[in-house]
Amino acid sequence: MDEPALARLLDAAVAGADPLEVMPPVGGPPGWTPERRAAFLEFHRARCLNSATAVERTWVVDVDGEAAGAARLQPDGDAVEAGIWLSRSSRGRGIGARVTALLLAEARSSGAARLLASTTAGNRGARGLLEGAGATLIVEGDEVTVELPLS
Ligand SMILES: CC(C)(COP(=O)(O)OP(=O)(O)OC[C@H]1O[C@@H](n2cnc3c(N)ncnc32)[C@H](O)[C@@H]1OP(=O)(O)O)[C@@H](O)C(=O)NCCC(=O)NCCS
Repeated sequence: MDEPALARLLDAAVAGADPLEVMPPVGGPPGWTPERRAAFLEFHRARCLNSATAVERTWVVDVDGEAAGAARLQPDGDAVEAGIWLSRSSRGRGIGARVTALLLAEARSSGAARLLASTTAGNRGARGLLEGAGATLIVEGDEVTVELPLS
């Protein structure tokens, strides 16, 4: 991720994702309002691009040369937390599984002992993705968490 990639990522999010799928909630009318677009950019600048505040590494997922989503790894003690989203037209084609394999390899080479991820009980895509990666899902109410040993 860098500033040009972030601009491409915002275009992909606006074109093919719901704000709540890709960023924390921002008040106001539904959809990609100017406030939500600005918040999306600030969210990634603070979490990834600004070295004074960064907590994670984020990669833009390019499909056929165009931004189609993002993947992230956030160190957490001896573990690393992973996240991923894809634009609607890129879902259900095996791309998430390929990106997850890349995240696992990157997490391993960074020396992390465990990979953590979470989603909601109704998110069938994310659940399928995590099960496909070999994770055992822990379901507590609406929350689903996984922990994959990396060594
Ligand atoms: C979750 C997400 C990243 C999955 O990526 P994807 O490219 O669509 O997933 P894949 O096509 O690689 O599928 C991976 C596995 O999950 C299954 N799967 C994917 N979408 C599914 C769905 N909607 N319902 C049931 N199973 C699904 C696939 O069948 C596949 O299983 P298999 O290997 O046994 O065939 C993508 O759907 C997405 O971006 N969703 C919106 C954002 C989001 O929810 N992110 C996760 C937040 S925790």
